[in-house]
Amino acid sequence: MRLFFALWPDADTKTQIARVAAQLALANLSRLVPADNYHLTLAFVGEAPSSRLPGLLKIGGVRRAPRCTIAFDATEFWAKSRAVVAAAQETPAGLLEFWEQLHRDLALKPQHKLRAHVTLARKVAQAPVLQAMSPIVWRTSSFGLYRSDTSGVESAYTVVDTWPLLDETQNP
Ligand code: 2AM
Repeated sequence: MRLFFALWPDADTKTQIARVAAQLALANLSRLVPADNYHLTLAFVGEAPSSRLPGLLKIGGVRRAPRCTIAFDATEFWAKSRAVVAAAQETPAGLLEFWEQLHRDLALKPQHKLRAHVTLARKVAQAPVLQAMSPIVWRTSSFGLYRSDTSGVESAYTVVDTWPLLDETQNP
């Protein structure tokens, strides 16, 4: 199974993201990501046998991280992944630390530093004209381990488990 840790938006955040996605002027063959599939990938585990699940669930269960507010303030075309994303120019320090810690827990070496983003469209062949956007404000409250099934036209995601992020008063 294909697994990843991610943040999933609540209903209000999802609506904000969908509003931005609806304004994209994309060529025909580009595929808008369905709103239920919006997410912020924290760590991509990739194909993993079910024997790895207990270890991954343990990491999710013991990892403590603070809630944060992420402002996604620009749409960008990422040519290499042929995607249009909503990106945050500034990554909250707590989120960056959490991302680094998760990668250490998983013994994964990230190729790039975190650029917090939500993918809005895939299979975008040509750089679209992108307009300024009013920021999407996402207040995180939990994170999760998700499973991705890429056999269909659209990826289908299912939640394996989720864990709360801590508010300031719960910080260790
Ligand atoms: P994205 O957030 O940039 O879209 C689930 O498959 C998520 O994991 C995707 O949404 C994608 O990130 C990310 N992902 C997929 N393949 C990946 C890979 N090979 N390396 C890192 N992240 C990947």
